[in-house]
Amino acid sequence: MFYKKLDNFPKDFLWGASSAAYQIEGAANEDGKGPSIWDKYTHEKGNTYKDTNGDVAIDHYHHYKEDVELMAKMGLKAYRFSVAWSRIIPDGKGKVNPKGIEFYHNLIKDLRDHNIEPVLTMYHWDLPLNLQEKYQGWESRETIKAFRKYAQVLYREFGDEVKYWVTINEQNVFTSMGYRWGTHPPKKHDIKAMFLANHHVNIANALVVKDFHQMVPDGLIGPSFGYGPVYPKTCDPNDVLAALNAQDFNDNWWLDVYCRGKYPFFTKKQLTDLGIMPEVTAEDQKILEDPEAYPDYLGINYYHGGTVQQNRLEKQVDDQKDERKFNKVDPYLMQPKGDKAQNPEVPMFNNVENQYVDKTKWGWEIDPTGMRIALREIYEKYQLPIMITENGLGALDIVKDGKINDTYRINYLKDHVKAMKEAITDGVDLIGYCAWSFTDLLSWLNGYSKRYGFVYVDQNDNENGSLKRIPKASFSWYKQVIASDGNDE
Ligand code: BG6
Repeated sequence: MFYKKLDNFPKDFLWGASSAAYQIEGAANEDGKGPSIWDKYTHEKGNTYKDTNGDVAIDHYHHYKEDVELMAKMGLKAYRFSVAWSRIIPDGKGKVNPKGIEFYHNLIKDLRDHNIEPVLTMYHWDLPLNLQEKYQGWESRETIKAFRKYAQVLYREFGDEVKYWVTINEQNVFTSMGYRWGTHPPKKHDIKAMFLANHHVNIANALVVKDFHQMVPDGLIGPSFGYGPVYPKTCDPNDVLAALNAQDFNDNWWLDVYCRGKYPFFTKKQLTDLGIMPEVTAEDQKILEDPEAYPDYLGINYYHGGTVQQNRLEKQVDDQKDERKFNKVDPYLMQPKGDKAQNPEVPMFNNVENQYVDKTKWGWEIDPTGMRIALREIYEKYQLPIMITENGLGALDIVKDGKINDTYRINYLKDHVKAMKEAITDGVDLIGYCAWSFTDLLSWLNGYSKRYGFVYVDQNDNENGSLKRIPKASFSWYKQVIASDGNDE
């Protein structure tokens, strides 16, 4: 901080909170919903912590009215949720399921009736299973076609009711976890497949953004990207160069494509040399570079950054397979192992610990200044309005006398709210903040014990909780932040 006085948050700032369909809805087989890759994955033994799944989750499908009531009580200005593709089109590509459409119409209406701005995410990882089984999911261009059709259904149905749209959630995370680290479906260990699937997601993203601009001219659309700034371990120019490499590999690789329609030259050259760069046809390039396919704003999910040094690991890359499994090792900080073509970043940079920041119980760095740095970097490069679409603390919450006194979460969020205020004072065009998450929910790999919500939900790793909702201390704190337009944190 170097200002004596910070600017205020804009009056129309979207103070919000987030969720994702698979993590909250439950009702996995109800009202015509088809299975998704996550429904299958969580039912195969050993894939998730204590084999937890989203069959019931926190049963938001049946409790959405109560949840929206609580949002209204809090004074929430925006709520980010995702639509389950297989609720809308059960097999991913065929008939539309009217019951699925109805559910989201009801939810959106309820939000609007309470003056809460819906922020709709079209894809938060729950690909319809049929597309995976029939076409190998994102490895096939058939999935691009199916996604485009699904998006058009959403635009037609909800285009008049929803202004803020998110195309894809954390493309960097689900492609790496699914195709490289084998910890998400489709559980592969094949980096070439990862870059191919990723390229297809890029094309799908560009096509649906372009369609959106034609079909929902008054709306705003962008991806939600999991961004982390990269720090060099020392000022040794070789470490600084490693940080530059890491930023290209971890961040520019996605954001440059979304916002400029081009893969950044450095990483592209490395992947090409290793024979793992996907083919980009002239037609693909045209689709990506069409300015109509560029986002209107950027959704950024910020948890923390990373620190790197020049390569010192080439020979001794540990096998962290077991640790990785339940995400004890942060997904953003996976350390590669083995074969060169499968681990292109090893010569470019190695991930190391940052001695200047604390960590959560799950080993995630706590770095609010990194959020200001992230906002500055992104805004400087892409000059687009930014919405923080996720940020929050995963912690074990204890209920005592019917209350949850989560001061650790309040402190975490307070520091991040301050970092946003500083970024606004720096001149960043920040339009909203959706904390992760509104209610407690299912953590993809960590079950129900790693909680993020403002609202405690009585659900547990045996999946037999009462589902009772209890606002935590952080609920009242955030209510006050919102009521004071962020000036009273
Ligand atoms: C983000 C995802 O990567 O991190 C969320 O978009 C997820 O869906 C969140 O829940 C927290 O991750 P975790 O593993 O702690 O639940």
